[in-house]
Amino acid sequence: MKNLTNDLYLTEYRKILARINKKGPAMHALSDEELQAKTPYFRDLLAHGKTTDDILIEAYAVIREAAGRVLGMFPFDVQVIGAIALHKGKIAEMRTGEGKTLVATMPLYLNALTGKSTILVTMNEYLAARDGHQMSALFSFMGLTTGIDVQEDPREKLTPAMKRKIYASDIVYATHGVLGFDYLLQNLGASKKDQYLRDYYYVIIDEADSVLLDSAQTPLVISGKPKVSSNLYGMADDFIQILKKDRDYVVDEEKDCYLTGAGAKRAERYFRLDNLYAQQNFELLRHIILALHAHTLFERERQYVVEGDKIELLDFQTGRIMDSTKLSAGMHQALEAKEHVPITQESRAMASITYQSFFHLFPRIAGMSGTAHVDAREFQEIYGLDVVTIPTNHPIARVDEKDLVYYNEESMLAAVLREVKDTHKTGQPVLVIASSILRTERFSEQLLRAGIPHNVLNAYNTAKEAEIIREAGQRNAVTIATAIAGRGTDIRLGPGINELGGLSVIGLGRMDNRRQEQQARGRAGRQGNNGSSRFYVCLEDEIVRRYGAERLQDIAAHHTGIAPAKVRRQINGAQLTGEATARTARRSTMEFGESMKAQRDLVYRMRNRLIQEGRTDKDYYMSIEEEVIDAFLKDCGRSLDPAMAARFIMDNITYSLRDFPEESETATTERAKRYLLNCASRRFDEKKSQIRTKRQLVNFFRLMTLKALDNAWIEQVDYLQQLRQAITGRAYAQRNIMFEYHREAYASFRKMTLDVKRHMMRNIFLGEIRYDEEGKASVLLP
Ligand SMILES: Nc1ncnc2c1ncn2[C@@H]1O[C@H](COP(=O)(O)OP(=O)(O)OP(=O)(O)O)[C@@H](O)[C@H]1O
Ligand SMILES: [Mg+2]
Repeated sequence: MKNLTNDLYLTEYRKILARINKKGPAMHALSDEELQAKTPYFRDLLAHGKTTDDILIEAYAVIREAAGRVLGMFPFDVQVIGAIALHKGKIAEMRTGEGKTLVATMPLYLNALTGKSTILVTMNEYLAARDGHQMSALFSFMGLTTGIDVQEDPREKLTPAMKRKIYASDIVYATHGVLGFDYLLQNLGASKKDQYLRDYYYVIIDEADSVLLDSAQTPLVISGKPKVSSNLYGMADDFIQILKKDRDYVVDEEKDCYLTGAGAKRAERYFRLDNLYAQQNFELLRHIILALHAHTLFERERQYVVEGDKIELLDFQTGRIMDSTKLSAGMHQALEAKEHVPITQESRAMASITYQSFFHLFPRIAGMSGTAHVDAREFQEIYGLDVVTIPTNHPIARVDEKDLVYYNEESMLAAVLREVKDTHKTGQPVLVIASSILRTERFSEQLLRAGIPHNVLNAYNTAKEAEIIREAGQRNAVTIATAIAGRGTDIRLGPGINELGGLSVIGLGRMDNRRQEQQARGRAGRQGNNGSSRFYVCLEDEIVRRYGAERLQDIAAHHTGIAPAKVRRQINGAQLTGEATARTARRSTMEFGESMKAQRDLVYRMRNRLIQEGRTDKDYYMSIEEEVIDAFLKDCGRSLDPAMAARFIMDNITYSLRDFPEESETATTERAKRYLLNCASRRFDEKKSQIRTKRQLVNFFRLMTLKALDNAWIEQVDYLQQLRQAITGRAYAQRNIMFEYHREAYASFRKMTLDVKRHMMRNIFLGEIRYDEEGKASVLLP
């Protein structure tokens, strides 16, 4: 069934390809100048009502010809088919090494002709920089600019002005992390000069499964000013040491853990509480849950490393150290408590977004990867994207050998060492891709002892990355890497290597999912070259320790050497469980993200409007004040008296209350309302008359409003993060967490919008604008 749809797509694209091919000779006959003149010509067509679909055929023929001239690579037919799929908003699955970097240039060129923001996103900075630099020559030949949003010199921070320049480029290469942060940061800015993004239009996501699926579990969070720090981390960490798995807490399939009833009882005894779940114990409960997570869900060297007395997070998939990403709401501190390093201050989450919601901001998305179709359903469900599998240019010549299965790590490493030695003798280059950093180091030690020179590429030395990769395909090269090198890297073969059998890839340990393994293999046998790959796996692989039955570890401890077929089934079963778990976890992140997404959309839209519009009309502000007053009166109900009204005025409207309200003026809600509105109206006129110029007036209103909105939203983001933790923590006894979560999230948002209005009017009424001798204005918040 699926193949049928795929065939339909391919048939459609082949027809388009035939028409592009037909234009080939004519394009070839053009001089460089004539070819370059096509860019303004296309722009003109688009300006006069043609669409990108209308000009696709000619534009692809042009850019293809240009690629042949500038890069010396003329896109193959299958590459053009892939490029058509990308323009049509599909995920193009093209095998590793088929040349997706080049494929992307065609739709990038076509879509950038519209003058709207056109972006290629990939999974790490090395790849973004590599591809951007490689392809910029082609784009600049065709008169388009390329921006690379990668900080290449770590000493230099990209300023908003530099960012604006990058984003103003016709085509931008970036990583998903940077792009998402830029979005969040821009939406924390206060004026137009902090805004550097153009409206998103078209994005191609390279390594789409890695970016859209595997990173989906790490939401982007921007942390702000520190919260009051607490000593609860240490206490909670001590406490959970006495807990026993399955008796006091459970770790479920979705990688979440909960206290059981017995666990909660134990906490109540330990901390001498009546009810752990009572409102006043919210903070303690949150810390206990955090400590539990730190101990059960986070493994040192896997999710994080300890450097000196700092915890550094590792990218879930690649083993890279993640810089700007800190874990959300207290998780970092819980890990610090676990590792007994000094506890840093917990900062407030100021803005956060999941990749799922982030990419939904683009009206047009496409993706590409060597491994997409196994998760086609999820792409369809979550992003509405179809996967189209494109045939290869040459048949794949790589030989994928059967796995070799061992009982324990020791016998496995010994066997790998033997194989590396043998291969190395022939001069054939070997790339060992390990499932963890720890393994890269252990194996590196063994190679050293065996006297085999080699390079190690892991999170600790990413700086040397490009150089190491360049050498990895040369004679005698032995390279050990984590999954870092497992995707996107293009290992070119040195002279004579293809004849030796190409690159030999050895997988060290079962990986988190099959896609990763396929990608690792794909470092060999690119562009029809020779190559081979084999995985060595054992019962002590992390994926088995994590998702396999516990008795498997006993078996591993008591057996050595090669293991029988049933062990292989156990290991593969653990991987399948891991894959299913990740899928469920992604779904749950997405569901939790829904509330935040809806709220964020509203808030950001409001912000943008505020920044653009700058309203000064009285009716608008008075109608907001009326809502504030109504809410106040509703709260007071019948107990309203002149003192309360006076208090309200001094808190919200003016510090200098000249006449205290009469008894009669607050006798009914109606009268009180009229009284307060009058008071506010006078204050508004007074305020307006104090500000000298129209521009200052606009700025004053805008600033006061933005401040109110931002403060409230920052609180809300932080609250939602904590709510999620608290709710999953008490989930054990509960019916429907998601429902509860969305209900509470909505209620808090309702409350927040009213708070924004109150604070905004309060800022306006009580904030001050001051002038110095030269007439320069400054603003003071109340
Ligand atoms: N049309 C072409 N003619 C000649 N060489 C090409 C052509 N297209 C791509 N190549 C070469 O093929 C190699 C692989 O390209 P690239 O790294 O873009 O593959 P990929 O599909 O992105 O692989 P991966 O899935 O591993 O990221 C590169 O060395 C590139 O220069
Ligand atoms: Mg690639």
